Amino acid sequence: MKGIILAGGSATRLHPATLVVSKQLLPVNDKPMIYYPLSVLMLIGVRDILIISTPADVPRFESLLGDGSQLGLRIDYAVQDEPGGIAQAFTIGADHIGNDSVALILGDNIFHGTAFSDLLLEKSKDVRGCVLFGSEVRDPERYGIAEIDASGRLLSIEEKPASPRSNLAITGLYFYDNDVVDITKNLRPSPRGELEISDVNQVYLSRGQANLVVLGRGFAWLDTGTPTSLLQAGHYVQTMEERQGVRIACLEEIALRMGFIDADACYRLGVRMSSSGYGRYVMDLARSAGLSASLS
Ligand code: TTP
Repeated sequence: MKGIILAGGSATRLHPATLVVSKQLLPVNDKPMIYYPLSVLMLIGVRDILIISTPADVPRFESLLGDGSQLGLRIDYAVQDEPGGIAQAFTIGADHIGNDSVALILGDNIFHGTAFSDLLLEKSKDVRGCVLFGSEVRDPERYGIAEIDASGRLLSIEEKPASPRSNLAITGLYFYDNDVVDITKNLRPSPRGELEISDVNQVYLSRGQANLVVLGRGFAWLDTGTPTSLLQAGHYVQTMEERQGVRIACLEEIALRMGFIDADACYRLGVRMSSSGYGRYVMDLARSAGLSASLS
């Protein structure tokens, strides 16, 4: 499975904070926002990742994450000239996807919950059709909304409905089989001139191949689109991290646990940031995993 992080957009609701820098580079507590969606892909074992962003921001993501090899990943970059819709990820990323399945995650989506990685691992295996993730929200008019029957089967998806049939929003994490590339190629832009992800999902729904996984009460799906929600997301992460003594979306930790890098490589990544709590956390993890004689 290949991975795509869509991290463009104009983030107008965060102006002026995002006038010159991408929203997905703003900090959420102790780390840049993009660490959170990147950690989700890593937890599924996806190591071949395309980051799509604006012409101005691609170089900034590149200086933050490089080619990904320090984390045992391969990261490539592509430009989205204008916010032409979420499904444009599949036209821009067609070569990257090749003949594979793909996990798309929006660069501003933060997920946290018990056994989330086990759930993702199970659902990302052998994807046929698409797998969407739903989460309850208080303001369904702002999202793509799923209607399900008593058995949890997906019946309809409505984009930003005036009279929502449920509170179950489709989140910014999607798994697709390889058909998504052709489906998107043949998609007509919406009246707004965008390639809408809901239209892609409608095609899968009409084929009877759209699966919805409902993230229950134990899951947090956090919004970061406004100053208030961004601050709240930061507080959530800080509260969890302080209380539990573990970090959410620490890329070096995930790379170590997944076996993408060894303890020595992890330690060296931590040393570069040894003045911060994050850096010292990475160094401590590496020490507990057992450093080679030259570093211990
Ligand atoms: P939105 O929340 O629709 O837009 P935005 O983030 O630009 O914010 P605002 O409403 O304040 O102007 O986008 C959701 C995510 O998808 C966000 O991470 C940006 C990304 N995105 C793109 O990268 N390209 C696109 O063409 C679109 C529509 C969204």
